[in-house]
Amino acid sequence: MAVALLLAAGSGERLGSERPKAFVVLGGRPMLQWSVDALRAVGAVERIVVALPPGMQAPEGTVDVPGGASRSESVRAALQAAGEGDPVIVHDAARPLAAADLFRRALEALDETGADGVVAAARVADTIKRVEASGRVVETPQRDGLWAVQTPQVFRRAALEAALADDAAVAAATDDASLVEARGGDVRVLEASPANLKVTTPLDLRIAELLLAERAGAADNIAVVRSIFDAFAGGVPERSFDVIHPDVVWDLREWPGWEVIGADVYHGHAGLREYWSSWLSAWESIEFDVDELRDVGGDRVLALLRVRTRGRRSAIVVENPPHAQLYTLRDGLITEVRNFSDRDEALRAVGLGAGLD
Ligand code: CTP
Ligand code: MG
Repeated sequence: MAVALLLAAGSGERLGSERPKAFVVLGGRPMLQWSVDALRAVGAVERIVVALPPGMQAPEGTVDVPGGASRSESVRAALQAAGEGDPVIVHDAARPLAAADLFRRALEALDETGADGVVAAARVADTIKRVEASGRVVETPQRDGLWAVQTPQVFRRAALEAALADDAAVAAATDDASLVEARGGDVRVLEASPANLKVTTPLDLRIAELLLAERAGAADNIAVVRSIFDAFAGGVPERSFDVIHPDVVWDLREWPGWEVIGADVYHGHAGLREYWSSWLSAWESIEFDVDELRDVGGDRVLALLRVRTRGRRSAIVVENPPHAQLYTLRDGLITEVRNFSDRDEALRAVGLGAGLD
């Protein structure tokens, strides 16, 4: 089982807030709570150790330890307090947008590659220059192959412990992976979104606030779409209309089968009722397997599904090919549904190209 070290002991000088940065309220809760919740959702994590600044308390269910003078010293203190557990996840409380999935992917990558460490990172988008104190540019490194390193960083415990044994290096390091690299360790990057930003300045805090609000809205939208499938599964499709806008557009133009049904676009509750009743009446029973509901931005949710139908006369159960629906919502109500008989086409329609990642 893995153990997670959450670094929250910094003061947040550059943010300039009254309380230590990790305890600044973001999206209605102390910043570090976002990371604690994400880590809790990762099954492989057995314990979360939080390195704290003086006078602050750790969130419930975590182990607390006083932080050190530098970040790496806080890592060392947290590791010493961690008890058993391997691999070790190191994460900055200053990165509240890291989701459970990123932690899981990092652990998987460590497992799959057999490396000593795996670090979340994003390709550098800006051209980077090395500049001396006078302001004169010394070098412009090739941008290809430059990555901006984030956390989480996951390590095999032995590799991290060995790297943290060097006092002088620890005092100077800004990330633990570099300590492992310096000893010849094999460290790999795991591509992560640049949205996994580090809150350093007041501007970062504003951006994080917006992104977290967007995420909360996305979770609500997913719940709305899920309620449609729940209504069908519960035998009460009529309940779906609670979350469907009266002027809904139900679009079958990307669904080649529409000719058999009648029209290619249905409007409003009445239109949708007409469509559903003609379509539903063809079957004795119908079941949806929802493979995935994914927020794709812009108040849209992509549903990847399979439908199992049983004919009225034949009673034969048919597994229909995987297809997709793209829901658009406004203020919590579904305003448009595009139906796709081909999942790849649906992915292209939302700009996701050939894959979902
Ligand atoms: N950190 C820590 N112990 C320290 C210094 C930093 O646990 N002695 C943690 C911070 O709480 C933060 C992460 O390491 O979550 C990354 O550090 P940084 O963004 O630099 O945070 P601060 O040091 O708090 O900010 P500043 O440098 O502006 O003071
Ligand atoms: Mg700092």
